[in-house]
Amino acid sequence: MLKNREIILGVSGGIAAYKSVELLREMTKKGANVHVVMTQNAQQFVTPLTFQTLSGNPVLCDMFRLLEDSKIGHVTLADIADLMVIAPATANILGKIANGIADDFLTTMVMATKVPVLFAPSMNVNMWHSSFVQNNVERLKAHGYQFVDPIEGDLACGSVGKGKLADIEEIVEKIEDIFTKKDLSGQHVLITAGPTLEPIDPVRYITNRSTGKMGFALAKMARRRGAEVTLITGPHYLSLPRRDIPQIVVNDARQMHEAVKHYFEDCHIVIMAAAVADFRPQDCLTEKITKRKNGTYLLEMDRNPDILKELGEKRRNHILVGFAAETSELMENAGVKLKEKNLDLIVANDVTQAGAGFGVDTNIVKILDAQGKVRKVPILSKDEVADIILDQVVKLVKKKEKDLPWPRNW
Ligand code: CTP
Repeated sequence: MLKNREIILGVSGGIAAYKSVELLREMTKKGANVHVVMTQNAQQFVTPLTFQTLSGNPVLCDMFRLLEDSKIGHVTLADIADLMVIAPATANILGKIANGIADDFLTTMVMATKVPVLFAPSMNVNMWHSSFVQNNVERLKAHGYQFVDPIEGDLACGSVGKGKLADIEEIVEKIEDIFTKKDLSGQHVLITAGPTLEPIDPVRYITNRSTGKMGFALAKMARRRGAEVTLITGPHYLSLPRRDIPQIVVNDARQMHEAVKHYFEDCHIVIMAAAVADFRPQDCLTEKITKRKNGTYLLEMDRNPDILKELGEKRRNHILVGFAAETSELMENAGVKLKEKNLDLIVANDVTQAGAGFGVDTNIVKILDAQGKVRKVPILSKDEVADIILDQVVKLVKKKEKDLPWPRNW
């Protein structure tokens, strides 16, 4: 998404200015060409040399100095850029721009540009909540400016509350979001992720090696592509993919079953990436099993509901996508599951392969559709794999929309 993009990073004078260095690094790592513009106050916190060294471009501070880069020539940065990000955005800079003041290089550029502008504010909690700042934010939003709101936390001024610059990961995610085509807008996607934990006694449970990474990647990418996403996940140790994805955390398969049933009617697409346990201990004991009382211990198991199979029976115009985590006969097993569960797509992966399956950041999959067509996806990051799966889903959405009778009611 950021490869070869020209991005202007505006840095205004707040203590979080040092974090912009990290933001610059992340954007350049992803292939963007970043041009930094600093206000005078920002230079009190970080020197232009830091940004210049890391961006490989001259840092612009002085409104009256001509641009030096010969490649840019007389074309101003505001014209060639794909996006402007102002991070941190102080109360002062928001106030100036909201009220049409252009008295330095940065504010002039914001006024002059036609490209999307993203603000990541950072300030003291009382400043953030003040009616002046809030009115300015509302005003800027009404004019089409975009925001990554600050988060709660310990602030540099010693107080605690909302005002901390959003995490760099979240700012980068918002930037990638701005560049993403919204081909899933209007679609409600239900995604399950992670393992389920089937309790044995108050201290033990049965689970599997799923960490939730694939499901979380799908949730993030679907939201980025404009879908309304609901994420139902088993217990996990991951950070939330985005603040705007509601997350329902369940423990066991029966809870996941209830949660999925609750959302199924109102969604258009279900992607079951969760590794649901097929069996659970017959009774969850109220007392811990001790070895003193039991020389050997035989655990009796009951079948859990097959959630996806049930959805396959109930489906109307839904699009259903399953996963098949296999250790042998990959495509045979995946094909049987696709048929038995009445799915549109099944994503098959051999979890014994290095770089695929549980816990890793990459995956190697084969996507099988109901017509028997197979799309082979080589080793890629789970975000990239998620995008390829969603490309297939978008094709199905388009086909369904064409086939649905008028009025097109999902
Ligand atoms: N699944 C489900 N409910 C279950 C088990 C699996 O909804 N009780 C879903 C998974 O989320 C996945 C698909 O069904 O999308 C296939 O899961 P998998 O564990 O590969 O296969 P199973 O159907 O459980 O069959 P088996 O364990 O015999 O391979």
